[in-house]
Amino acid sequence: MAKLTWLGHASWLLETQGHVVVVDPFLTENPAATASADEIDASFVLLTHGHFDHVADAAAIANRNNAVMLVANYEIATWFAEKHNVKNTLGMNLGGAVDLPFGRVKMTLAHHSSQLPDGSYGGNPGGFLVEVEGKKIYFAGDTALFGDMQLIADERPDVAVLPIGDVFTMGPDDSVKAAKMIGAQIVVPGHYNTWPPIEQDAAAWSEQIRACGLTPLVPEVGKPCEIA
Ligand code: NI
Ligand code: MN
Repeated sequence: MAKLTWLGHASWLLETQGHVVVVDPFLTENPAATASADEIDASFVLLTHGHFDHVADAAAIANRNNAVMLVANYEIATWFAEKHNVKNTLGMNLGGAVDLPFGRVKMTLAHHSSQLPDGSYGGNPGGFLVEVEGKKIYFAGDTALFGDMQLIADERPDVAVLPIGDVFTMGPDDSVKAAKMIGAQIVVPGHYNTWPPIEQDAAAWSEQIRACGLTPLVPEVGKPCEIA
């Protein structure tokens, strides 16, 4: 049974068959986070794009030991290897998939930007379609609503993790449209309630998701949810 834990903002912990995968770790300066970077004992770090609120604690977690693998687009993976001395990196690019010890990971499109914290070019922003224990989880990353989410639907994901915060990503209404297009039965909101500009009413959003015949899953920060 795979478990998904919201670490606050757009940070997620996925636990599956003895593997711990952290997506977009942003903890130390995240006012919504309850865990610190030294409590996150992950063996894989997945990064959707280069923005500070997605990569801030990646090096701290990846450098705990040399076996931890940092997975990101090629530019971000190279930046972590060169600037933060991360030893085990895997650079990917949009549309590519790899089989990792915990499951299959495909890098999907996102409409956003990706500059790294020091101003370096962070390649293209992306999302991840992660297949574990026979279930597919789509982490959209930071993105606007876009029509090619239809192609994600063809992959028949079981769970969709979507930003709902607005301002920097799609907001609640567009995320409901995205959820409908993607068709995953379980829809999980993220990238909201971290700071005042992205405060959202998750209960109202859940009603909209339910009205589409889908199941909203609104985790509390730090509380694992069984998803597969
Ligand atoms: Ni971003
Ligand atoms: Mn962001």
